[in-house]
Amino acid sequence: MAFDLVFLGGTGDLAWRKLMPAVFQAFRHGALPPDGRVLASSRETLDRAQYCAWLRARFDSLTWDEPFTEEEFAAFTSLLDFISMDITQPEAHQALADWVNLRDADTVVIYLAVAPALFSGLCTGLGRVGLNDKRVRVVLEKPLGYDLASATAINDAVSAVLKEHQIFRIDHYLGKQSVQNLMALRFGNSLFEPLWRREWIENVQITIAEDLGVEQRGGYYDRSGGALRDMMQNHMLQLLCMVAMEPPASDDADAVRDEKLKVLRSLKPLSAADINNNVIRGQYRAGRIQGGTVPGYREEDGVSPASHTETFMAIRAEIENWRWAGVPFFLRTGKRLAQRTADIVVNFRPVPHPIFAGPNGFQNRLVIRLQPSDSIELELLAKASNRSKSEQGRLVPVGLNLDFKEAFGTQTIEAYERLLRKVLAGRLDLFVRFDEQQAAWRYVAPIIESWSNDPDSLRLYNAGTWGPPAASAMLARDGAAWPEER
Ligand code: BG6
Repeated sequence: MAFDLVFLGGTGDLAWRKLMPAVFQAFRHGALPPDGRVLASSRETLDRAQYCAWLRARFDSLTWDEPFTEEEFAAFTSLLDFISMDITQPEAHQALADWVNLRDADTVVIYLAVAPALFSGLCTGLGRVGLNDKRVRVVLEKPLGYDLASATAINDAVSAVLKEHQIFRIDHYLGKQSVQNLMALRFGNSLFEPLWRREWIENVQITIAEDLGVEQRGGYYDRSGGALRDMMQNHMLQLLCMVAMEPPASDDADAVRDEKLKVLRSLKPLSAADINNNVIRGQYRAGRIQGGTVPGYREEDGVSPASHTETFMAIRAEIENWRWAGVPFFLRTGKRLAQRTADIVVNFRPVPHPIFAGPNGFQNRLVIRLQPSDSIELELLAKASNRSKSEQGRLVPVGLNLDFKEAFGTQTIEAYERLLRKVLAGRLDLFVRFDEQQAAWRYVAPIIESWSNDPDSLRLYNAGTWGPPAASAMLARDGAAWPEER
């Protein structure tokens, strides 16, 4: 199966940090179909050799779990080509078509790793030069728009040119190993599913915490980002869907996406009072992380000194259906938090009548950890056997841990590699359908509206902490606490 893989935005951060390493890894893992060509394109005036040298320098600045050899890099670059062009111009679309038409590949993947404002014009242009025939698959990087209206406008333009099965909307969190394993745990085993409901689960907590700040993306993040658009509307709500969805009838893409859509449509709409009480918005000021001092968000390059952009947010969400009625789902994400961690914690209800001495109100917890490494942990109570006399016979928490590195070896597949392989295979199950995005935008729309009229709702937090204390107070009202506070 001959394939062509085209990256528009080929010298962008995403390209050298994630996309090219993902193709390279797939190549090294022998996972690319035979007879492939990879084209990168951007406005930079580079030729093929210069691009390869540029890429090599960037690869050298990355940390590789599996260091590569000269031979491997050289073999990879034999697939690579580069064209310098301005993709807002019709000549560029023609140049792209000419490159693709140099041969007749079975699959042509065009990855738009560019600003979403360019998506509509680009897709129209691709259609005009015939780069929308049945061989073509287009990958759209997030963010897909700025709000419901802009996302719909982009989608209309893209769908005027491409059929839905040709459109791959990326949410790289869906490609993470632990998210795959959450599906496997829930629907490949019979153990948890009977317990996976309001009768047994008290609350669910989803955290994506980063210790990094906005790095070099300050200007972009400040203008178009914020935690709501950068993380909540997409990654966080997709994780929520994976936890809360009903069992799909099969692993077919639409069967899975139909179930995720139902979750998004069942989210309890946020009233003005909910937004006051159950949505927290924060921004980091200067602080200390891992022994070093870091500047506040407003001091970052490219960020307005009076910015009200949120770098943290938390929501207490509810899902209005039989399975989840009354179960709070606490979602939080932020930059410059105490440590890099991402996990889904399912807190089960305490036993109805404790007969043993042990920690008060103990809850079994299932922790699906996505970062810094992949694992699934189940916390149970067991009788202590080797404790001091006073502790003997008491129940103490112990963990049943599944560490994927230990179970399956260290050769893991990164999210982007997994997703690119899926695109090449034409499998849409790990990609987001537009109606899901629409429903997610609808859910967050009242927050966007409310925040734009209420700058005072922004709470500052010190870098290196877990965000504004209000995010803890919100859980305390439900008698709950974030994992690090237990
Ligand atoms: C991206 C966001 O989608 O996800 C970034 O735009 C964020 O702001 C990143 O840092 C986090 O991804 P990961 O895989 O490093 O947790």
